[in-house]
Amino acid sequence: MTDHTNHSLSFSQPQYKNLLRTTVIGQKMSYHKQLNSTNSYAKSLSKADMHHGMIILTDHQKSGRGRVSRFWFSPPEKGLTFSLIILPKINIRKSGLFSILSGVAIAECLIEYGIPVKLKWPNDVMVDSKKIAGILCESKISGQLVNSVIIGIGLNVNDDPNEYPFDLQNIVTSLQHITGTNYRREDILTNILFHFEELYKLVTNKQESILVKKWLSYNQHLGQKITFHQNDTLISGLFLGITPYGEAIVEINGKQEILMSGQIL
Ligand code: BTN
Repeated sequence: MTDHTNHSLSFSQPQYKNLLRTTVIGQKMSYHKQLNSTNSYAKSLSKADMHHGMIILTDHQKSGRGRVSRFWFSPPEKGLTFSLIILPKINIRKSGLFSILSGVAIAECLIEYGIPVKLKWPNDVMVDSKKIAGILCESKISGQLVNSVIIGIGLNVNDDPNEYPFDLQNIVTSLQHITGTNYRREDILTNILFHFEELYKLVTNKQESILVKKWLSYNQHLGQKITFHQNDTLISGLFLGITPYGEAIVEINGKQEILMSGQIL
């Protein structure tokens, strides 16, 4: 449900519980009025306190962390800032799939609200070349296995880009900025988690190729020349797609290369 007023409201856990349509993902929630970073909080939990599918959510994230040591800015009570804990016990090569999966879950959710989302490898969620959401996955590895993944998601919902630091104002957007509607964040979050749970089944059933296909259908640079940052060097190539492990396939100087990490400019 949406209304057209422009207000901030604290996140309602009872409303969230009522709307939640999952069986595992998001069933356990740890809500905090304010936190420095939901990812850092999740990382500080003991093994016994880490439950598969649990989410940590705050209404005011004071020092949100982005990829490559950047800061994630989020005004209080406007957007969604949360971390989802997954205990997957899968091979380390598949760890990149969680960014892909989360991007598709957000895309499938936002498309239902009429938002024309595009995904940028590895994990930026864009609308009209502006960022609407960011994903920060942090994994704990033991031997060849991924023991836990903390998936941090920041989604701009009722944010006004004019309230952002000046250098971000032209590169971010939000649902409200695009449609002019004020959204109930509990609706959006429960919808993302629903899509996440469905997509996660593809990974547990070894149907990653379906996930890859879905991701490619939202991708904004397939078949295009891209420039990316890798280990302080700028490289150009043709983006050909992603592997069933979520790595990028790029043609560089006529040769196909697999990239596990990097940043497309
Ligand atoms: C990026 O695009 O650089 C990733 C941004 C990830 C931000 C989210 S907000 C919730 C979670 N907690 C954090 O400190 N960061 C992530």
